[in-house]
This record gives sequence, C-alpha cells and structure tokens, in this order.
Amino acid sequence: MKYKELGVSGIEVSVIGLGCWSFGGGAYWGPQSQRDVDNVVAAAIERGVNFFDTAEVYNDGESERSLGLALKGRRDKVVLASKISTAHAGEVRKYLEQSLSRLGTDYLDLYILHWPINAAAIAHFAGGQKVEPPRVADVFHQFEALRKEGLIRSIGLSNFGVRQMAEVLATGVRADSNQLPYNIVSRAIETEITPYCVAHQIAVIGSVGLQQGLLTGKYAKPGDVPPPQAHSRHFAQKRGGKESRHFEEGAEQELFEAVDCVKAISAETELSCAQISLAWILQKPFMTSTLAGCRNLAQLDANLSAADASLSDGIMARIDAASLPVWKKLGDSADYYENRAKSRIF
Ligand SMILES: NC(=O)c1ccc[n+]([C@@H]2O[C@H](COP(=O)([O-])OP(=O)(O)OC[C@H]3O[C@@H](n4cnc5c(N)ncnc54)[C@H](OP(=O)(O)O)[C@@H]3O)[C@@H](O)[C@H]2O)c1
Repeated sequence: MKYKELGVSGIEVSVIGLGCWSFGGGAYWGPQSQRDVDNVVAAAIERGVNFFDTAEVYNDGESERSLGLALKGRRDKVVLASKISTAHAGEVRKYLEQSLSRLGTDYLDLYILHWPINAAAIAHFAGGQKVEPPRVADVFHQFEALRKEGLIRSIGLSNFGVRQMAEVLATGVRADSNQLPYNIVSRAIETEITPYCVAHQIAVIGSVGLQQGLLTGKYAKPGDVPPPQAHSRHFAQKRGGKESRHFEEGAEQELFEAVDCVKAISAETELSCAQISLAWILQKPFMTSTLAGCRNLAQLDANLSAADASLSDGIMARIDAASLPVWKKLGDSADYYENRAKSRIF
C-alpha cells in the first residue's frame, strides 16, 4: 500500500481508502452484516489501509455506529473521516459531538463539510425544509476552533467547485482535502477542479471509485443496475426510481461502451475490471486517494489488488479515449445527481 499526504496536514492516507456508506445497512445499499463489516475493517487494516470514510447521513448514523464497532481497539491505527451534513453546518460542534459518540472516539482525523453551503444543497439534506444558509466564514471558523481544540485534526471539503473553494480560502481557514466523484465514467472534475486543488495543495479524494459497482463489470446492461445505484445522470431519469431527480436522458450507451473497454482490457491481461478501474484512478497524478466501498472480504480483496497493479501508458490511453464519449455527454458538471442547470457544484 502507498500513502500520500492530505494537503499540508502532515496526515498520510492510504491511496485506497475504505468507503463505509453501506455499513449499518439501509434503503440505498440494502442489508449489511456487522460480521462482514468487522472482517472487512480488520483485513483492510492488516493490508495497509488506514483511511476510513463515513458520514452522519449514511444510513442515518448507522454507518458511523457500525464502523465505530469494527474499529474498537484499533482507533489509533486509522485516519478516521466523517462528514457533517450541510443542513447542520450552522452547528458544527453539536453534530461533531454526535458523530464522535456514534463512532466511539474522542477525535476525528478529518472532518468534512459534505456539500458546499448553498440553498439547493441545504434543501436536499433538510428533506426540502427551508433552512437559512449560514455564512461560509462562520462555518469554517467553527471548524477551525474545533481543530485548535484537538477534536479534529484536519478540515475537509466535499463536492466543492472552484468558486466555492476560493470562498473557503478567503476565510483564512485551511482546508486540506476535497472529496469528489471520480472514476472512468465520471471525469468532470478534471476540467477545472483538480487543477485548482493541485495549485492550492488541496488533496483530491475520489469518491465512487467503481461507479457504485458498475466498473467491476458485473452489470451487462443498464436494466441490471439496481435503481438506487442508477439515480445519477449516467442513467435515464426513469431508471433511478424515486431517488432520481435530474430529468436527463442519461448516457447509457456511452457508459456501457466504456465498461466494455475495461472488460476487453481485463480479458487481455491478468487484471480484473475492479483492479483496472481503481488502478486507472491511482495513476492520475492529481489524485491523493480513492475511496472504494467494500461490503465483504471478496470485494475488499478484489479492490485492494489495484494498489499493486500498474497500467501501461497504452492501456491508460485506451481507457482515457473510451471514457471521453460519456464525459462529453454528461458535461463538465461534477454534480451527477442534479440536472446540470441546477448543479450544486460551481
Ligand atoms: N462525498 C460524497 O458526496 C460521496 C458520495 C458518494 C460516495 N462517497 C464515499 O465514497 C465511498 C465509495 O463510493 P460508493 O461506496 O458509493 O461506491 P463505489 O465505491 O463506487 O462502489 C461500491 C459498491 O460497489 C459494489 N462493489 C464494490 N467492490 C466490488 C467488487 N470488487 N465486485 C463487485 N461489486 C463490488 C458494492 O455494492 P454491491 O455489492 O451492493 O453491488 C459496493 O458497495 C462511499 O462509501 C463514501 O464513503 C462520498
């Protein structure tokens, strides 16, 4: 396993981090056994993973609780990250304390604002309720006070665009990372966001490294993808069930052509689709770490094997080319859930 620094925080994270959204089980991912979580967390640490990412909103706090149980006796071995819902950004201390209690710890290594502060993001997280957005400077000064007290070691952004990052920098508070969707079929952040992050030493943490399972090659056609995992703009509005709210036509043909390219490379090499997909991310020089959700030991094994894979320049170029049509169709909005005219990332 390799490690990279989170911005200039002095904190080193493994280049593959464990995405813990499914932990605790819930409507989005279905049931998730605690035994599998315990096994995955123990094995991940044994294999050098030190970066674990959760959020208060994942399964209504159950992801944090489940991860906390699995980390019992191992807290000092990990870089533990959680996120505050943007709907709670006016009261950072209160919601941090709740996360700490669910996780069974007294500090976080990384505390992240889940989405930028804007009315649309807040309305989404507040279940459509009208909540007055707090001032960006007030929010980040609350984060900074908690950092100075030692309750958090580093401040993180998530889903922030260039203007939104500039607004944070202008507060004088240092944010060391920005967590953003990034994978072979989600490349919008390359246009402006990753160059800005690199220029300002903000670590880029990739979320959704496998496009929620799609890039493992396990789905033969769009109709095979469960509705929750098909509610992003990659899929037609109708495909994503009640979660879907973008009203776009999707890019299903281009999406599966990109997956076919990964499958073809897998057939020619000893590498699995998951390994190729994650290795492609790790070889992008602007990336610090990619998160991958692993629900059991088999998925963990498959995904961690990407850390040892090395893709030739030729393979990287083939994947880059195969991913262009879907990128072009979905455009440069890194918000893959809202209609691009209503993007919450700018
Ligand atoms: N900041 C944000 O707004 C944001 C947004 C999304 C995610 N995240 C973070 O990023 C992490 C990763 O994203 P994600 O979990 O949404 O998606 P992901 O990592 O792209 O995909 C994870 C899912 O794919 C399936 N899978 C994983 N490895 C597999 C394998 N080797 N073979 C077959 N299936 C496999 C599993 O679900 P099934 O077995 O059910 O198919 C797993 O839950 C999250 O856990 C979360 O920590 C952050």
